[in-house]
Amino acid sequence: MTNYTKELEATASLLATPGKGILAADESTPTITKRFQALHIDATEESRRKYRDMLMSAPNIEQYIAGVILYEETLFQNALCGIPFPALLNELGILPGIKVDKGLIPLAHTEDEQVTQGLDGLPERLAQYKEQGARFAKWRAVYRISDNTPSTLALKTNAEVLARYAAICQTEGIVPIVEPEVLLEGDHTIARCEEVTEAVLVAVFKALHRHHVALEHIVLKPSMVINGKACPEKARVEEVAMKTVRVLRQTVPATTRTINFLSGGQTAEEASAHLNAMNQLGFKIWPLSFSYARALQEPAMKVWAGSDNNIRAAQMIFVKRAQLNSLASLGQYNKTMETEKAVLV
Ligand code: 13P
Repeated sequence: MTNYTKELEATASLLATPGKGILAADESTPTITKRFQALHIDATEESRRKYRDMLMSAPNIEQYIAGVILYEETLFQNALCGIPFPALLNELGILPGIKVDKGLIPLAHTEDEQVTQGLDGLPERLAQYKEQGARFAKWRAVYRISDNTPSTLALKTNAEVLARYAAICQTEGIVPIVEPEVLLEGDHTIARCEEVTEAVLVAVFKALHRHHVALEHIVLKPSMVINGKACPEKARVEEVAMKTVRVLRQTVPATTRTINFLSGGQTAEEASAHLNAMNQLGFKIWPLSFSYARALQEPAMKVWAGSDNNIRAAQMIFVKRAQLNSLASLGQYNKTMETEKAVLV
């Protein structure tokens, strides 16, 4: 078997560059179609290409973004300038990544819980993606909070699948993003989310250990510890930060290379404020950065609205979010910056 340690080390260390994060632009076709339709934007292969080109050709993003997670369609598409998207990213010194899971299916004998599929044929797909330029991959598992969920069965099954995926990636020289997402949907309290997130992470790291996954060559992409969307009590920014960091310190080994949060339906401003507050707590065990989709893209997608005339304005908004999250990953964000204009050179 080829020894990919050096390659994994190089990729992981670039993804963990201080002050940089990851752009998740890997929405599946049904997901991006829903987001476009909500804004009355036509969802076609060409409109998706134009939209993602707007993001990836935005000026200066390489100052804030270390990697972009692509969906399979985009990995094999050309940017508007005529070169493949992965080549465009490489020219900027940004690493191309790829979403490799094939979505969620019901987990039998549970209360509507789900498990992620896509392990069959994964080594062969990874080899193809790597050939096309992908250096890292992403796999998302989801956990819904209710009185009885997540069940022990869902915790164990999803952890096992995440660990098998991560181990396969590393044997192919691809750095795995391990994404266990505790959903924001529901009326649960922050205390309940804290308890569930801790159980999820314990199960995930046990499984990663069982499968001999090298933690210095993974990216952990967790959700933050936060009250459910429909919970009447809204947790303060400092409470989210403290509880999230407490759970991570309790469950995540120090060797884990970097932690890059998902945004999960928080507003763009909330996601920046929470990340910043965590970094201001001053625990420097692992980098705490971002791997946001909605919190980086939503404001820009609204401004773009499917029109070529809005590309420049949308790029300004997108670069500003990337810049603010970069500052938040260093604990240097301030709410007053929200009203200042992005500085585009
Ligand atoms: P959000 O930041 O919108 O939660 O997306 C992150 C992601 O990659 C979902 O898998």
